[in-house]
Order: sequence, then structure tokens, then C-alpha cells
Amino acid sequence: MLETKIYNLEIQKVTKSRIHEIDFNHIPFGKYFSDHMFVVDYKNEEWQDGKIVPYGPMSMAPSISALHYGQALFEGMKAYKDTKGNSWLFRPTDNHARLNISAERLCMPAIPEDLFMQGLMELIRLDSNWIPKQENAALYIRPVMFAIDEFVGVKPSQNYRFVIFTCPVGQYYSEPVSVLVETKYVRAFEGGLGFTKAAANYAAALMPAKLGQSKGYHQMLWTDGFEHKYIEESGTMNVMFVIGNKVVTPMTSGTILSGITRDSIIQLLKDWGIPVEERRISIDDLLTAHSKNELKEAFGVGTAATVAHIAKIGYMGKDFQLPVITPSSISHRILKTLTDIRTGKCEDKFGWMVRV
Ligand SMILES: Cc1ncc(COP(=O)(O)O)c(C=O)c1O
Repeated sequence: MLETKIYNLEIQKVTKSRIHEIDFNHIPFGKYFSDHMFVVDYKNEEWQDGKIVPYGPMSMAPSISALHYGQALFEGMKAYKDTKGNSWLFRPTDNHARLNISAERLCMPAIPEDLFMQGLMELIRLDSNWIPKQENAALYIRPVMFAIDEFVGVKPSQNYRFVIFTCPVGQYYSEPVSVLVETKYVRAFEGGLGFTKAAANYAAALMPAKLGQSKGYHQMLWTDGFEHKYIEESGTMNVMFVIGNKVVTPMTSGTILSGITRDSIIQLLKDWGIPVEERRISIDDLLTAHSKNELKEAFGVGTAATVAHIAKIGYMGKDFQLPVITPSSISHRILKTLTDIRTGKCEDKFGWMVRV
């Protein structure tokens, strides 16, 4: 029989909350952190008891192996308030499962679900006042795990730290986004880390994204690493296209993050009887659909960006404009439904929400 370890949780509260320093009506993404964080270490081949402590700096040696050899991964999820003021998490166990998929690929220890959920629930309960009530706002939750061996030499670390901290956030994009199809650089390749939330994936994307931004685009639209022919994903979003009467999205593979928003939207679309195809989509197919006026909508989907309308696609020096979104657009209906489920305004028939 599998032995289940009971984890004790020590809670050290702040003496004075910083919540009054925040203007919840104007919250930039990712800049303000709530009062507490959850911290737990892995040592002697097992996870120790966790602690909730005031959010703040931790002392660490410059020799910790995460800094040198990149054993670092993270997750991203959100907590919401319903109309009665109750706090809810959206599909947290899916984030936990994905974290362990990333950990396996990066040769890091899996974190038990009960330890993850205990720390998460207690943290959100304690900082529940930090969950914004404003429209389009939420409490962004950032679990992060990294290697803490003080050792120089390439090998998997034996000690790790897992932290969860949170930040109240407003909208990620305040306007429809423009994306530039990447034809030179590669974010991920088969057999690599693309399907994980390894910190390294984001480092690989920074320079190309900066180049794209200098040309006036918000994000890259990544293509496959062999031919730069098939669409993968964009920034921190999976992508979806409405072509004719179907929604088409790149199938997940070793190079694309299997988004929880993407999966939720596919379930919604199927429930609504809207045909959805998960397949390879070439840039040529997309532009042919555009030339025939069959490309009705393009949007990015993800926890941070929610559903972000793509207004323009740049490719080989040309810009392809997409139709303006209207209340009858599919992406509009998706965003409204997801928001309503998350804030308790409509039934959660898929059982996605977890009460804190
Ligand atoms: C590279 C990448 N793709 C897709 C997503 C969307 O995933 P999710 O819907 O689980 O947030 C994210 C965000 O986590 C991401 O970082």
C-alpha cells in the first residue's frame, strides 16, 4: 500500500498587510504581490513540511544550480471571486498535473497533489482579500520550482524549492493583439522542452519577441522548428482560428504547451456543437483562408491573456488584417462564458471550479 505522508503547515502572518497600497481599479499585470507566499523544500529525497510566510526576498547562494543549468519551471493559474464574495480556483489540479509533467522532463521531483493543494488553498484563503472583484481582474497564482544545490557541475540537483506566490492582475492585453509569424528563430523543437513550462522556453523566446516588438507587433506567432511552416503558439497563449464554420487549433505535440484554457474552450465548443479541429495548420492554409474571406477570427487563449483577439498577422513583410470582433463572434461568446463560469454567473457544468 502507498504510504500517504501528512504534511504540517506552519503559518507566519504579516504584521501589517500591504493591501491598502494597491489601487484595484488600475492593476498592471504582474507588478504587485500579495502578502504571503507558500514555501516548501525537497531534501533527503522527500518533500518537507511547508510554510506560509510573508512574501519577500529569500537568501540564496550564487552557486545554486537553477541559475546555471536551468532546472527551473513554473505554472500559472488564477483565483476568482463570485458575485457573493466566495473565492474559487479554476482547474487547479490540472495545473498540478502539468507541473509534474514539466518536472519529469527537467529531472526534478514530482510534487504530491495533497502538498500542492494544501499550500495553495491555505495561501488563497489567507490572502483572499487580494482577489480583485473588478471585471476582467483576478488573482494570478504563480507556483515555481527550482534547483537549490550549491554545486558547480552539470548534474540534476538533489535539493529543490517550491514556492507559490500571487499577484492581483488586471487585463494582460488592453487592446487586440498583432502577431508576427516567426520564420527564423525557434522556441521549441521535437524532443525538447516545448510542452513544459520550463523557464528556459521563455528565455529562448525573449530575443525574437523583442525583435518582433521593435517592428510593432505584440508577439511572435511561433512556427515549427524544421520548416517554419506550421503554426504552433504565441507568447503565453495557444492559438485558435475560426475558418468557415469550424474552429481550428494546432494539435498539441512535444513543442506546444497543452493549455488548460485551450482544453476548456475545446470542451465548450464541443458542448455547443461547434466543429473543432485539432490539427497541423500551415501558414499557407491560413493565408489562403484569409484570401477567400474564410478566416473569420483568430485569438490567443491562456490563463494570463484569457481570450485575446488577434487583429493582425504579419508574415514576410506583409500584414493581414482580421475582421473586427462583434458580440456574435465565437471568441466573444467563449470569453463571456468562461468569465461567467469563473465568477459564478453561470452553471459550472464541467466541474472546473474548486471552492477555496
Ligand atoms: C507558452 C504557453 N502556451 C500556452 C499557454 C496557455 O496555457 P494555459 O491555458 O494553461 O494558461 C501558456 C500559459 O500558461 C504558455 O506559457
